[in-house]
Amino acid sequence: MELITINDLKVHYPIRSGFFNRVTDYVYAVDGVDFTIERGKTYGLVGESGSGKSTIGKAIVGLEKITSGSIIYEGQDVTKKRVRKGMQYNKDVQMIFQDSMSSLNPKKRVIDIIGEPIRNFEKLSDQEEKKKIKGLLDIVGMPEDALYKYPHEFSGGQRQRIGVARAVATNPKLIVADEPVSALDLSVQAQVLNFMKKIQREYNLSYLFISHDLGVVKHMCDNIAIMNKGRFVEIGTREDIYTNPQHIYTKRLLSAIPKIDVADREEHKELRRKVEREYVQNEKEYYGSNGRVFDLKNVSPTHQVALASAKSGGVQ
Ligand SMILES: Nc1ncnc2c1ncn2[C@@H]1O[C@H](COP(=O)(O)OP(=O)(O)O)[C@@H](O)[C@H]1O
Ligand SMILES: [Mg+2]
Repeated sequence: MELITINDLKVHYPIRSGFFNRVTDYVYAVDGVDFTIERGKTYGLVGESGSGKSTIGKAIVGLEKITSGSIIYEGQDVTKKRVRKGMQYNKDVQMIFQDSMSSLNPKKRVIDIIGEPIRNFEKLSDQEEKKKIKGLLDIVGMPEDALYKYPHEFSGGQRQRIGVARAVATNPKLIVADEPVSALDLSVQAQVLNFMKKIQREYNLSYLFISHDLGVVKHMCDNIAIMNKGRFVEIGTREDIYTNPQHIYTKRLLSAIPKIDVADREEHKELRRKVEREYVQNEKEYYGSNGRVFDLKNVSPTHQVALASAKSGGVQ
């Protein structure tokens, strides 16, 4: 069952310049994307830095004004602040950021960091609130004595787990996780991802999981969108993306996943070189005039790729 649907979302940032500070151009950060996140499922959003992923995440939680399009949550367009307020959207939809050092208030103790969203949305006695916060810490594998510590007293992985605990404090239905493990070591990444999965099962949560690394999202996502230049170049199930990638950009991202196994390294290097050659030779076929990403076409009922349509002869 669907939880939230994004229709033809566009976010264009004005560029101002000159003496009169006039708008002279726009950054087309997000330029027409459509997708649906199902209840209890994880939707992956993957692309290089600058492709527009965070802008989509921020637009969904209401941190970024949209240029056009709609975001439909429980039948209502939540791009309007008034609508979000009227339906407790801000309680239902939470965000986790990459950089927990700056997203957790350094002057506050954990009990207040996690307590804040609870106080905003629930009326609990001090005792009840403390019990709830302890429960949340427990879910992310943190000991009780973390309650009275400050963010700087924890490791990066621990801080990110506190960020997860804070995000689930309001019993949300959707969490936008923007590169939640990108700043962490590989071994710690796995740990945080496991906690996120466990919480997902317990709360029947949906995630929008944002990453620049297809390796990270592999074990998290049910469906994945590959994003490039503000648009989707390919969307599909995890299976579609990893076993049957069609767009050259997707293939390139896949070949960029680091190989841990030393034995495969040479073979992997050769694959990367091959994909890179293919990319250089065929790049033009995969993009329209001005380098614009084509509209998505169905490859199968679950799989869509931005290919030039036969009718327009590759020009759009
Ligand atoms: N507030 C802003 N004003 C102008 N341009 C912005 C702003 N925020 C992001 N951008 C630009 O929009 C594009 C997409 O950014 P972003 O969504 O942060 O990408 P990603 O998260 O994939 O790295 C980039 O070119 C970025 O420089
Ligand atoms: Mg980003």
